[in-house]
Amino acid sequence: MKSQAITSNFTEANAEALAVAVFKDEKASSGVIKELDSLTGGSISSIIKSEEFKGESGDIAYFVIEAKGKVKASRLLLIGAGDKADYAAKDVSPLSGAAARYLRKRNVKSFAFLPRCEGDAVEIAQNAMQGVVTSKFDLDKYRKDKNAKEINSFTVCVEGAKAADLKKGLDRGQAIGDGMNMTRDLANEPPNILTPTEMANRAKKMAKETGLKCEILDEAKMEKMGMGSLLSVSHGSAEPAKLIVLRYEPKKSTGKKGELLALVGKGITFDTGGISIKPASGMESMKYDMTGGATVIGTMMAIANLKPSVPVIGIVAAVENMPGGKATRPSDIVTAMNGKTVEILNTDAEGRLVLADAVHYAEKQGATRIVDMATLTGAVIIALGDINTGIMGNDQGLVDEIIECGKEAGENFWQLPVGKDYSKGIKSDIADVKNIGPSRKAGTIIGAVFIQEFIDKAKWAHLDIAGTAWADESTPHHSKGPTGVAVRTLVKLVERSQ
Ligand code: BES
Ligand code: MN
Ligand code: ZN
Repeated sequence: MKSQAITSNFTEANAEALAVAVFKDEKASSGVIKELDSLTGGSISSIIKSEEFKGESGDIAYFVIEAKGKVKASRLLLIGAGDKADYAAKDVSPLSGAAARYLRKRNVKSFAFLPRCEGDAVEIAQNAMQGVVTSKFDLDKYRKDKNAKEINSFTVCVEGAKAADLKKGLDRGQAIGDGMNMTRDLANEPPNILTPTEMANRAKKMAKETGLKCEILDEAKMEKMGMGSLLSVSHGSAEPAKLIVLRYEPKKSTGKKGELLALVGKGITFDTGGISIKPASGMESMKYDMTGGATVIGTMMAIANLKPSVPVIGIVAAVENMPGGKATRPSDIVTAMNGKTVEILNTDAEGRLVLADAVHYAEKQGATRIVDMATLTGAVIIALGDINTGIMGNDQGLVDEIIECGKEAGENFWQLPVGKDYSKGIKSDIADVKNIGPSRKAGTIIGAVFIQEFIDKAKWAHLDIAGTAWADESTPHHSKGPTGVAVRTLVKLVERSQ
């Protein structure tokens, strides 16, 4: 898709359609809406008057532009932006995305978009572009009848902005949108295709294309390093586990000396539950149990293209959780890389087992801040639904920073507590820790405090994305399916530490 920036009047835009944000209760009596009203022979004021279109978010109106000659576009799309007072850069991507999805269905190939947002032009253009890029993702990869018709040219119009700022924003939006789509494509893959080995191959290919360093640790290597917790999960599977390590190293670093941020992801390519097997109904959804790992890969891809001036390491524990003759049994005791022994009482609490060794490995690699992400618990879906990602951690500063980055990016995080009263729940009679709590209480927190046992000195935050990583319904701007949650927030976190 080509992208362009216009800093003069929108009438210059060379596109088939114009898409314009319109605020709640806005009248066609001034500014661009007035200009557009006259181009459409008063149609805008007429539908506003009839209350067919009120500018509420989600409202859409589509017109033919009759006044040929004054403007190149022949179609006009109004998209409701809601209250003007609440409208910020992060709200631009759902609008551009909704416009792109609407127009693409109608076979429109090029459109110009007026976000009408005040603030930083780079951020506005970035959001506009990211919305269009991520609107394209669909579940049709394995279908002959594809939904997607292509938008091949997108123009963002911000009158009075600097062209260079808009151009920069467009490139950034492409990078972030591509990263999100990478995450979503991986999460959408069926588990017979996306095995741990294939996940490693995809990461390797991406790394080669974007200039990241990539190292894949095989089971022999992990065995040698003592990753008994991670490997206990792959024992039941015919597919060997892989630890994917991606490194972004800037030419010149401006971050604090000695600081290293690690992004660590749960990459369970399929979670049957193992010997503590899950019920058949709904088990198919467990193909998405590698989304934490996919989020690391997508974020690292975005970072490789954005080139911030701080180093980042991405680590993915890619493992399949299957029952089998060699599978781990409830009551088995394994030794993790940090020397702690773990009594495994439920083989379906496997995400924490792979993350235990992955976060320890991150710290061994020099990480001073670790953010892990995982579809870790069903309990977080009960607690927060698909609206908020659960966040927990040992450092309030880091947790606050991620929540803040989320607010700027338009992603919601809600903190749950951790602490020694919860940690007591995973004390084992026979080993250092056990992998489940004494009851079903506080399931999400118990998952977090288990991982915390394997953090030594690093500042650490844990994101439970089980509820937010997959959308059961489509929205005007996104297909249903994998959402790419947390990529935008994590990019902000990285860029803040420059
Ligand atoms: N991958 C699941 C978490 C999950 C469950 C995500 C349902 C989405 C929907 C995880 O490995 C798991 O099975 N967790 C168990 C933990 C329990 C055995 C302590 C759970 O949440 O039931
Ligand atoms: Mn499980
Ligand atoms: Zn799982």
